[in-house]
Amino acid sequence: MRLAIGTTAALWVIGLCAAGAQAPADRPPMSEEVFKNIQVLKGIPVDQFMGTMGFFSSSLGLNCTDCHSYDSGGDWAKYADDTPLKRRARLMVTMMQKINADNFGGRQMVTCNTCHRGVTNPNVMPSIDLLYGTPPPEEPGDPFAQAQGQPAAESIIDKYIAAVGGAQKVAAFTSFTGAGTYRGYDDSEETPLEVAMTSIGQYYTDGHPASGPHITTFDGRQAWYNAPPTDRPFPFIALTGVEMDGLKLQSQLFFPAQIKGALRNWRTGFGTEINDRRVNVVQGNLGTGGIATLAFDAETGLLVRMLRYGPSPVGRIVTRVDYTDYREVGNTGVKMPFKWTMSWLDGRNVYSLMNVQANPRIDAARFAKPAAR
Ligand code: HEC
Ligand code: HEC
Repeated sequence: MRLAIGTTAALWVIGLCAAGAQAPADRPPMSEEVFKNIQVLKGIPVDQFMGTMGFFSSSLGLNCTDCHSYDSGGDWAKYADDTPLKRRARLMVTMMQKINADNFGGRQMVTCNTCHRGVTNPNVMPSIDLLYGTPPPEEPGDPFAQAQGQPAAESIIDKYIAAVGGAQKVAAFTSFTGAGTYRGYDDSEETPLEVAMTSIGQYYTDGHPASGPHITTFDGRQAWYNAPPTDRPFPFIALTGVEMDGLKLQSQLFFPAQIKGALRNWRTGFGTEINDRRVNVVQGNLGTGGIATLAFDAETGLLVRMLRYGPSPVGRIVTRVDYTDYREVGNTGVKMPFKWTMSWLDGRNVYSLMNVQANPRIDAARFAKPAAR
């Protein structure tokens, strides 16, 4: 078993942090201002802190409650209690930082994942199975420079624009609302979902599981995540840095006319394969230091994957979205994916849309900070 993702973990969703009462309004609260027992992961925003917890879990193949006490599954305060594995993990953070400082000029070359690769006890012996078996597909996403002999990224995006309806029609498609469902990694049922997005990156998803609404918004300046207290320890989570940029990008990708302007310093890498199909791979930088990689089907031209990541003290925090089921939106003549799978380090949701309205009037309040309850 590689990674058993507990329900609690999956509910940490799109990421993260608390609008802590103590922090000044002009910056997101730091981990040590919001949590009780922080010794090595100080000075990072709470959303990034939660990302590092996902990084620990995925690197070691553990659930949150494996390191934290079993009771912490039902009581957020218990996460502050120390356990032998938590103490061990702290020592590992310091060890890792020292390895990087002593050997790699402080660059983050060795991370938890470098040694652990999904298990608690790193292999000391090369695997014969791995040596002679078929290796898992390589995930395009590492930073790259423009590859020799590859076309400019813009031409690959132009091919996508042509494939989904052409520049003129695509430019006239600027917003949509939709209803559908999503299903989490270990959910047995679909959860009802409402979605609204605009070409300037405004974002709204509202899921209604039995525990209460899970709302994510981006109003163009600030991003929020709000969920019931049973599912998270804080009333609100402000998404910061790359998490916020990434949400904006996810919205803009539904409006292909926006893509070229959404990232900077575009480059094309070498093509590869995703699900046995050739893809062209392009990459660009997000405003706040993240990197996003887009993969387009070489034959159809359609966008099939976006992978983005941002920094943390222990390694890159990665989120991936896979797109399928392209259909025309209303009678705009523009096709967009009606199904996408968002996977992050401690959860995965599969979203499906059924009723989609093109270019509706959307009240700005829809994208604002969700109302407190
Ligand atoms: C490999 C062990 C490990 C795993 C797995 C892990 N954590 Fe942690 N967690 C820690 C350590 C270590 C700390 C303390 C960090 C420090 O001292 O800077 C911590 C601290 C926390 C805190 C702060 C508690 C407080 O008030 O001080 C929360 C909340 C938390 N973890 C949530 C989670 C969640 C949610 C997951 C699953 C996504 C998770 N953790 C997975 C090791 C782990
Ligand atoms: C240089 C390699 C290396 C790196 C980097 C590394 N570890 Fe480890 N880790 C190990 C080895 C080897 C063990 C097993 C030691 C043993 O069995 O006594 C281990 C054991 C652990 C354990 C105890 C597991 C158990 O079941 O007892 C935890 C928890 C852990 N590591 C967390 C982390 C975290 C979190 C990071 C990243 C901050 C990390 N490690 C980075 C090599 C590494």
